[in-house]
Amino acid sequence: MSEPYDLVIIGGGPGGYNCAIRAGQLGLKVACVEMRGTLGGTCLNVGCIPSKALLHASELFESATSEFPAMGIVTGAVELDLPAMLGHKDETVDGLTKGIEFLFKKNGAEYIRGKGKILGQGKVQVETDSGTSVLDTRHIVIATGSEVTPLPGVTIDEARIVSSTGALDLQKVPGRLVLIGAGVIGLELGSVWRRLGAEVVVVEYLDRILPGMDTELAKAAQRIFAKQGMDFRLGTKVTGVDSSDPDTLKVTLEPAKGGEAETIEADTVLVCIGRRPFTAGLGLENVGIEPDARGFIANDHFRTSAENVWVVGDCTHGPMLAHKAEDEGVACAERIAGKAGHVNYGVIPGVVYTYPELASVGQTEDELKQAGRKYKKGKFPFQANSRARANHATDGFVKILADAETDEILGAHMIGANVGEMIAEICLAMEFRASSEDVARTCHPHPTLTEAVRQAAMGVEGWSMQS
Ligand code: FAD
Ligand code: NAI
Repeated sequence: MSEPYDLVIIGGGPGGYNCAIRAGQLGLKVACVEMRGTLGGTCLNVGCIPSKALLHASELFESATSEFPAMGIVTGAVELDLPAMLGHKDETVDGLTKGIEFLFKKNGAEYIRGKGKILGQGKVQVETDSGTSVLDTRHIVIATGSEVTPLPGVTIDEARIVSSTGALDLQKVPGRLVLIGAGVIGLELGSVWRRLGAEVVVVEYLDRILPGMDTELAKAAQRIFAKQGMDFRLGTKVTGVDSSDPDTLKVTLEPAKGGEAETIEADTVLVCIGRRPFTAGLGLENVGIEPDARGFIANDHFRTSAENVWVVGDCTHGPMLAHKAEDEGVACAERIAGKAGHVNYGVIPGVVYTYPELASVGQTEDELKQAGRKYKKGKFPFQANSRARANHATDGFVKILADAETDEILGAHMIGANVGEMIAEICLAMEFRASSEDVARTCHPHPTLTEAVRQAAMGVEGWSMQS
């Protein structure tokens, strides 16, 4: 009989594959069971990566028509080759998923294609096309991720009524795209198809977009996206989509608080009202794990209620983000190896990759006010940043929040070009528990957008130079 595994991971997304690679590096005997046919999970296959490939390409497409003339660049008529754009996306995904297989081999982690099920403590069943086998293991890590939250009355067919997966692969630009939900997916994928020519209507239940993000940031974003042409219907719910007409979908809307219904037409409807943990058929009952009412598996430093069964990523609590899943996967492998793996949940950035981008880390002003914490605030507009003006990218601002007494940075919220890259500076500062003055006194290169971060920090200190 062969030696049992030290750990078997079920799910090969950012949580699972990073856990496998780190376990391999630490000398553990590790296998990762993935049923999708490729590694990388939602993120690489149908999430972060394909969406960013399309966001980048569609942003260039829009720039070519709206930005180039003002910069003195004359082109012929700019045309969309949608199959080529989708091909660029697919190639990016393909290269990256194969790259993870290579990393598995390099780090001694085994990749098993198949569906995993927990049979009991230390036993994982793997179902493949060629049959079923059982793996013996000391530890099991659940990393099965999440799936689209369905909306009653709206049946997703991934052709006309789509989830994010279908919206990443539309073969034709819709005339009118209705988004249900003004969260991250809606705004990112709505931006892609608006730039390529679709009329975009955004239906949101709440009276604001991007719930959870700093309110000032979300308001600024809404103003800018509305100027770009997105039609926001806030405080509104979709009660049904009639697809009986083969040419036109009929979407029924109602005020969220109740009232008269209205019907609007659409070519495509994107359902993006959130995601929920995916644990169906996983055999949780065989080890006595009961998910909470929303389907999440609770954890204490990644340990579940069952002995030697661990959980990371979207199927446990916390933000449903790839970098959160990745950090948990690494820390979990380290704990299984007897080390002190740790994730700092106070410093997990969130980025919305629209144009302009939105980026946040730490506490929002709303949260600080609610907690009664005294704070100082520094805010700097890109309008006053020289590089932003040279780049024609003056929309947005950087806001830094710091403790009123100690000056420790408590949060940062930014909207503007490239802020998704710039937020990392504040993440590092917060990880080191830096004060706002530390950032304000750090020399930043000129002329760069990052100077806006420094100026916002100076603003916290009361001595910003440029505004
Ligand atoms: P997943 O990536 O969902 O991976 C879980 C894997 O487990 C899947 O591949 C699944 O097939 C497999 N699996 C499930 N059950 C079994 C089983 N029984 N046996 C075998 N395999 C199984 N996050 C960001 O941080 N930045 C972004 O820009 C971003 N963009 C996104 C865009 C979209 C359109 C979407 C949908 C999501 C995006 N996310 C983004 C979120 C990100 O994709 C998730 O947070 C991340 O993938 C979670 O990682 P995970 O490992 O927990 O789960
Ligand atoms: P979300 O939670 O970001 O937004 C869902 C929106 O739908 C909310 O504004 C909510 O109020 C609204 N809503 C809920 N029910 C509704 C209803 N019945 N009618 C109208 N509106 C309704 O969820 P989304 O956009 O689906 O994304 C899922 C998750 O994927 C995100 O929470 C995020 O964790 C992850 N993601 C991250 C990205 C990034 O980091 N850039 C990009 C895309 C997804």
